[in-house]
Amino acid sequence: PMRILHTVADLRHVVRAWKQDGLTVGLVPTMGALHDGHLSLVRAAQQEMDRVIVSIFVNPTQFDNPADLDSYPQTLDEDSRLLADAGTHILYAPTVAEMYPPGFSTTISVAGVSEGLCGAHRPGHFDGVATVVCKLFLQSQADAAFFGEKDFQQVHVVRRMAADLDIPIRLVACPTRREDDGLAMSSRNRRLTAPGERDRARALPRALGDAARDIAAGRPVGPVLAATRTRLLDAGFAEIEYLELRRDSDLAPMAQRDDQPARLLVAGRLGTVRLIDNVPVAGE
Ligand code: PAJ
Repeated sequence: PMRILHTVADLRHVVRAWKQDGLTVGLVPTMGALHDGHLSLVRAAQQEMDRVIVSIFVNPTQFDNPADLDSYPQTLDEDSRLLADAGTHILYAPTVAEMYPPGFSTTISVAGVSEGLCGAHRPGHFDGVATVVCKLFLQSQADAAFFGEKDFQQVHVVRRMAADLDIPIRLVACPTRREDDGLAMSSRNRRLTAPGERDRARALPRALGDAARDIAAGRPVGPVLAATRTRLLDAGFAEIEYLELRRDSDLAPMAQRDDQPARLLVAGRLGTVRLIDNVPVAGE
């Protein structure tokens, strides 16, 4: 049966016993409001690891927008049912006071990969992510942690942080799970409630997929991206924050496609809902 723990001490206690028994431990960090994208990470962890910890913590320090934090969906009862059904061993749900006790003063800031893309539009966001994920790694002592490619820049930030700080954990990046019409699953999708909004959202994965195909076919990147922006605005997006081709391995900007794998990444706003997505673009 799944155990629900709320403190670092309780988590450490259980993990110590597992490790004494020689069991491997996987961690899936989340902010709850779970959907099948999250559960696909749990399944990947189940397949590779003896024991699986899923954390649910709506981390206040990574929200650059207070309204976004206040309206972030909280569905702990439903989440805990889904996780128990998925065979999770521990649901770790610390309080804000447990994670950030009075006097807490440390921030982890990852230069380079945190800059640009979402980092340019969400000040402080990746500092908040890097700090809380570092704490979750150290609290859980997990052997491996599972992240979604949906948040592609986040994977790079976390990888860099763990490597730079010599945290002995293996990172596994899992493919993006999508709805039947292609929209990437996201806890924020349930906020697409204005008339027609959910229908218009499907333009994002479609336009992204078409642009990736055109770039892979050798069309010049600049004009393809310009046309894709226009297409998304015509489809009803209020704003395209960024639409960029980056190198898959290190997120370096790419003016043209070359012989290395690339990623096409986008963030856009539909009404008040901010959506992000990305797709791979094969090298020449
Ligand atoms: P959250 O948005 O809840 O996402 C938790 C994990 O699920 C992340 O690794 C994310 O990339 C993955 N995920 C979300 N949607 C997905 C999809 N459609 N397909 C596959 N994976 C998906 O990301 C965070 O929380 C936080 O920043 C966190 C890492 C927990 C730190 O607070």
